[in-house]
Amino acid sequence: MKKRLLTVAVMALMLVMSFAMTASAGPVADTLGALGPGPHSVGVDLYHATLDQLSMGDPAIDSPASVTVASGVATMTLGVSPMTFGEYTGYLEKLEYYDGGVYTDEDVVVVDYDLDEVPDAFIFPITDETAITTGGGAVIGAWQKVQVTVKVEGSSMPVSQARLKIMF
Ligand code: HEM
Repeated sequence: MKKRLLTVAVMALMLVMSFAMTASAGPVADTLGALGPGPHSVGVDLYHATLDQLSMGDPAIDSPASVTVASGVATMTLGVSPMTFGEYTGYLEKLEYYDGGVYTDEDVVVVDYDLDEVPDAFIFPITDETAITTGGGAVIGAWQKVQVTVKVEGSSMPVSQARLKIMF
């Protein structure tokens, strides 16, 4: 009898664990999910796609940004500001995030508070982040690949890839 009770208890535990694992295996938030539910202020820099240096577009990215974790999905609200480069002024017109397969602007909300056609913020899911860890293995941030389309007054810039460095 005791043995059967134990078997039932173990099966119930396995069932609960399998539900818990299904719930956490959402589309996102492997790394940022560690922040826990709710809004969080995070440091953010725009880095070059491949080189270990800031992107030329970093001044156009506002830091801190906000990351909200809900139902296993991490959503970033990233403020942006026009910047100058040499004699030119430019701003981020379109932000696409890498979803693990392609760069996409699906589910990206462009915020333009003053309706001047210059975006003030982008709200988008963080879908394919790579953890930044300390030597001891603690997760202290994440990389998320993005693609930017920039409007340069009186000139142009090619659509470029870069990385957001997100620090908790
Ligand atoms: C202010 C006017 C701007 C000018 C004149 C300008 C010009 C340029 C030029 C000439 C390049 C090199 C392109 C190439 O040869 O591949 C470049 C690269 C790049 N730009 Fe801009 N840009 C401006 C603003 C911005 C803004 C606002 C962003 C993003 C928020 C941005 C993001 C990038 C990125 C990600 C690259 C790839 C290289 C890197 O990361 O440094 N740029 N830009």
